[in-house]
Amino acid sequence: MKKKRERILIFDTTLRDGEQSPGCSMNLEEKLRIARQLEKLGVDIIEAGFPVASEGDFLSVQQIAREIRGCQIAGLSRANPKDIDRAWQAVKEAANPRIHTFLSSSDIHLKYQLKKTRDQALKEAGAAVAHARCYTTNVEYSPMDATRTDRDYLCDVVEAVISAGATTINIPDTVGYALPDEFSALIAYLFDKVQRLRDVVVSVHCHNDLGVAVANSLAVLKHGVRQIECTMNGIGERAGNTALEEVVMAIETRKDLLNYRTGIVTRHLYQTSRLLTQITGVPVQPNKSIVGANAFAHESGIHQDGLIKEKGTYEIIKPETVGYTDTNLVMGKHSGRHAVQEHLKKMGFSLGRADLDRVFARFKELADVKKEIYDEDMEAIIHEEIFRTEDKYKLVYLNVVSGNVAVPTATMQMEIDGTLIQEAGFGVGPVDATFAAIRKITSTDYYLERFAINAITGGTDAQGEVTVQLKYNGHRVFGRGAHPDIIVASAKAYINALNRLEWVKSRNRKVEMK
Ligand code: KIV
Ligand code: ZN
Repeated sequence: MKKKRERILIFDTTLRDGEQSPGCSMNLEEKLRIARQLEKLGVDIIEAGFPVASEGDFLSVQQIAREIRGCQIAGLSRANPKDIDRAWQAVKEAANPRIHTFLSSSDIHLKYQLKKTRDQALKEAGAAVAHARCYTTNVEYSPMDATRTDRDYLCDVVEAVISAGATTINIPDTVGYALPDEFSALIAYLFDKVQRLRDVVVSVHCHNDLGVAVANSLAVLKHGVRQIECTMNGIGERAGNTALEEVVMAIETRKDLLNYRTGIVTRHLYQTSRLLTQITGVPVQPNKSIVGANAFAHESGIHQDGLIKEKGTYEIIKPETVGYTDTNLVMGKHSGRHAVQEHLKKMGFSLGRADLDRVFARFKELADVKKEIYDEDMEAIIHEEIFRTEDKYKLVYLNVVSGNVAVPTATMQMEIDGTLIQEAGFGVGPVDATFAAIRKITSTDYYLERFAINAITGGTDAQGEVTVQLKYNGHRVFGRGAHPDIIVASAKAYINALNRLEWVKSRNRKVEMK
């Protein structure tokens, strides 16, 4: 008889490791929205942030801990009493709070970065866990850069923190250096040498620098690892972390080889991915597994022929399993307020009266110029109307002249902190002219690293969705805008990026992770 499928805990660090990555900073309201969605998705633990990093980080972890009742809420802290106290203050009101504390264990980190001996670090690790245990029994410990740590020293660290009371031991591949066989051998070694690992939950946290974070996470389940740390869309430091959607769907799809289960409600995966993209503006590559725009698109004639005859010929996952539907026709200009409200509910958005008024007004405006309105159009409206927080810069009007004989010219009015300012800009094309006008009005001149246009749905009347990436003093932000007119969408995206940059600059992160 086949053994019962064992449960793997999904520890989501989108709001901590993910949020640390360039362009992915989120404000409190945005983090709360992601946390609510992660709860709906069924993750077991949300790592909500690094509370000591700044007042803003602290407040968002605290708010998430207060509101989200269906997941454990973890706060990250370095292995010192001040960080741990701060992390506890932030998470203590959670239904099930966790302190996650870490210290590097590899010689290269100890010698060059921390200037500590192995002995010192070992003592500090044990003391940190003992300190965290004064607050809660739910304590996770991570020896940072574990995969480049001397194996026997790693065993000593793990032994010491279990003795001090850690209940979850996380083995991070911090720099994404390990390969699956090697990582698997390391975990097997730890289980062999540290008997007490069987008394705690063993977790892994893999980075994707060599593109094998998901493979590494899956390779170690057979040894007894029961928690995987991951992020939505695989965002995270450098090349990112293990992608939640990939690791979960690998377990789900290959039950024949992987006799495990997670608590993830897979039909919410796609919506969660879209929400993160909408909030951060960081796009998902089209060929990205599970949530990329082409993940379920079959272009080749041979494949299409096979699919018509039998879906299983070329489809290993049913798109609807991950909540992916072909663009859904919503309604047209004759649809009423109630119909729109009901449809939004089906999409997972329950709006109050005032919010619905604003969304419905935008829907009507769009329906006047675009015959058919799709779910993706509604999503774009909702994210612009409801979820964007107070902006410094607002677009009031834009008028563009261009063509093969005219000098492309944009006349524009914007509101900046309540004051109306009007200017004209010239450029090599209408987008260039528009951006020139914005730069004049806002007296800014940030480096434009990226500009991309996508049609949200098919057809020439589709809304254009523009992504803009700006860079300033090491800060990198994305902005997004959607509109049937791609020049207006471009202006909105640029202004959105400026607003995000303002917020990132004011955020004042005091502590970096060392
Ligand atoms: O990559 C890493 O080592 C981390 C730790 C804090 C777990 O993010
Ligand atoms: Zn990490």
